[in-house]
Amino acid sequence: MTDRLEEAAQILKRSRFTTAFTGAGISVESGIPSFRGQDGLWEKYDPKVLDLQYFLSNPVESWKVIREIFYDFIGAAKPNHAHLVLARMEEEGMLGSTITQNIDNLHQEAGLLMVSEFHGNSKRIRCLQCDRVYHSLDISLENLPPTCRECGGVLKPDFVFFGEAIPQQPLGEAYRVASLSEAFLIIGTTGEVMPANQIPLIAKEYGATIIEINPEPSNYTEHITDIFLQGKATVIMQSLEKLLFPPALNDNQDGVD
Ligand code: APR
Repeated sequence: MTDRLEEAAQILKRSRFTTAFTGAGISVESGIPSFRGQDGLWEKYDPKVLDLQYFLSNPVESWKVIREIFYDFIGAAKPNHAHLVLARMEEEGMLGSTITQNIDNLHQEAGLLMVSEFHGNSKRIRCLQCDRVYHSLDISLENLPPTCRECGGVLKPDFVFFGEAIPQQPLGEAYRVASLSEAFLIIGTTGEVMPANQIPLIAKEYGATIIEINPEPSNYTEHITDIFLQGKATVIMQSLEKLLFPPALNDNQDGVD
């Protein structure tokens, strides 16, 4: 694995534009279960609660489960080391953009600035009637469904439900940066969900070198991945960090002249 890590680090150092593409797997070590696979959320909950039509017809039922999954439980999660390394790569000019499928806001909380929220963000709650946006901390979820203080309309989490269109801005931005990328770093996604799962394919079509981090093979691994770094995101990203940002020689001296 070491030589694969070194190869990946060299590619990331040389790349003039790198994009990270993240899924639920990067947040697993922050305590947020993934959607699929062992202990996945869809093993425990029916994904219909995130179907737009079901939500519009059954807002209370849908909100009860959404509150349990995304607000009571996930709300307190903090960024892990993998999120922090991506933010450091961006700060050091080694990461041009991050496209995330995640709605947990952990990239932003880690200090990452160039984030395209392909599936929106659970920290925002939007009125279906007047489009006013609230921070989730400003809305009580005691009585469901929560309603708008301005117009009384039903509020919906500002993330993309099944059957709902991807917002134009992140969609366009994702296609743009994928086509510009020399290196494309896929972290923690099965690649199951359309149209997000097309983004890495576009990067590949435009000539990007695909580096993938995942404990398990995904839909990409045998198909487009050039360097597969098998393992947990925090472990692999910590190893990459050491290669990307080696401690300066004088950092190791103990003050001997
Ligand atoms: N580090 C890295 N990857 C991990 C880790 C870890 N510690 N643990 C699990 N994974 C990997 C799994 O092997 C799997 O490939 O993370 C991936 C999680 O896959 P999914 O649960 O399908 O998550 P994701 O690909 O992000 O789902 C896409 O589906 O339900 C919708 O909108 C939801 O954005 C989500 C979309």
